[in-house]
Amino acid sequence: MAEQFDVTIIGTGPGGYVCAIRAAQLGLKVAVVEKRASHGGTCLNIGCIPSKALLHASELYYEAGHSFAKMGITAAPSLDLPKMMGFKQEAIDGNTKGIDFLFKKNKVTVFRGTGVIAAPGQVKVGAETIASASIIIATGSDVAKLKGIDIDEKRIVSSTGALALDAVPGHLAVIGAGVIGLELGSVYARLGSRLTVIEYLDRILPGMDAEAAKAFQRMLQKQGFAFKLSSKVTAAAKAKDKVTLSIEPAAGGAAESLEADTVLVAVGRVPYTEGLGLDAVGVARDAKGRIEVDAHYATSVKGIYAIGDVIKGPMLAHKAGDEGVALAEILAGQAGHVNYGVIPGVVYTNPEVAAVGKTEEELKAEGIEYRAGKFLFLANGRAKANQTTEGFVKVLADAQSDRVLGCHIVGPMAGELIHEVAVLMEFGGSAEDLARTCHAHPTLSEAVKEAALTVAGRAIHA
Ligand code: NAI
Repeated sequence: MAEQFDVTIIGTGPGGYVCAIRAAQLGLKVAVVEKRASHGGTCLNIGCIPSKALLHASELYYEAGHSFAKMGITAAPSLDLPKMMGFKQEAIDGNTKGIDFLFKKNKVTVFRGTGVIAAPGQVKVGAETIASASIIIATGSDVAKLKGIDIDEKRIVSSTGALALDAVPGHLAVIGAGVIGLELGSVYARLGSRLTVIEYLDRILPGMDAEAAKAFQRMLQKQGFAFKLSSKVTAAAKAKDKVTLSIEPAAGGAAESLEADTVLVAVGRVPYTEGLGLDAVGVARDAKGRIEVDAHYATSVKGIYAIGDVIKGPMLAHKAGDEGVALAEILAGQAGHVNYGVIPGVVYTNPEVAAVGKTEEELKAEGIEYRAGKFLFLANGRAKANQTTEGFVKVLADAQSDRVLGCHIVGPMAGELIHEVAVLMEFGGSAEDLARTCHAHPTLSEAVKEAALTVAGRAIHA
């Protein structure tokens, strides 16, 4: 008789591995199936973690060459790209090994190979069949392709290839001014690439607060980013060491060409469900290929569940992980849930961009009366001392109740600062609650407090 599991999770990315650990903590007998050599999925192997290592290293390289002198530090940095890539690899290895340790600690059984759902309650991995009361699909997402543009991961790369270039491109063309395009574009701009970003829409970072995105675009332009907005790439012709892109206005019109050494395609991601056998077992998907689930992550087939990038919602590691925890708790008979109104989003550039809750555009569209309090880092003591004064904090609060509905930050450490507002929002806090909370001086966090004070028109330093 094959061993019987309570839960089998296909995919050990940030959705799957977190779900496995939480389910094991709750006393369930858990198996995971992973086809990659290391756990952690896109996030740890070819996404969040390696990109953050390169963003950190490239930022220090750039600062050493551009900001150290004014602080009285003499340095003439030189770049050893293979060594920087080695630093990135250490970040990957350290994190993926951490999951091996956590699986052992929590007695999670690991099956190596491609999981195929043979029937409800049965997952095949090669010749082996796993018997399991519940099956969870956590197979994540894959790079969205552009028609007529063949990603070879050498000259025309996705985020995967961009994390492993063997030389800094002279001219890097980035298709898509979303999170990946701006983060990886930043890495190579700091290392010396000329950068052109081509974006279909008339703005960068769609979905983010428009005022924040606009301010951020100006900051990137000062860093040397060139943007071609409202433009679409219709073809890419590869010569020996160049790629020529044909670019047309999004609304149609005459094409122009742009020559680049390397092209990064960053136009989004699509759910990854290939080879799982979903059609045979009858798991329903929507028009975008996402697995349809109910409020408890149950698919159309009893006993089969899905979380993370394969279902609707933002394709974010932390959203997947929280869904993993919620589903594990539901399967263990508890009341797990995710508050989709409070999922922070961060762009890890310099300065960073961070958001939680509603944008001004969303509040207007929903007819919600609100008050906005904005505070510039220019007036924050710590930012002034560090000379990192670009950007602002904007707090949006309900006009009647003063409850905080959103916060948008462009500026130093925005990705850390946003979380005090996330916690506040989880507790239904008001701008006044935030404003009356004592904040240590001198910190960047004081800018968040001052933005909350500004909601009531009583900032001290503005
Ligand atoms: P994205 O959805 O953030 O941005 C894609 C951009 O490409 C959009 O601005 C879109 O308008 C544009 N676009 C689409 N088709 C185009 C075309 N034909 N020509 C020109 N522009 C076009 O997707 P991205 O940056 O590829 O990231 C994929 C996913 O990974 C996102 O869901 C993102 O949230 C996630 N991610 C999150 C990170 C973070 O949280 N820091 C970091 C990296 C990725």
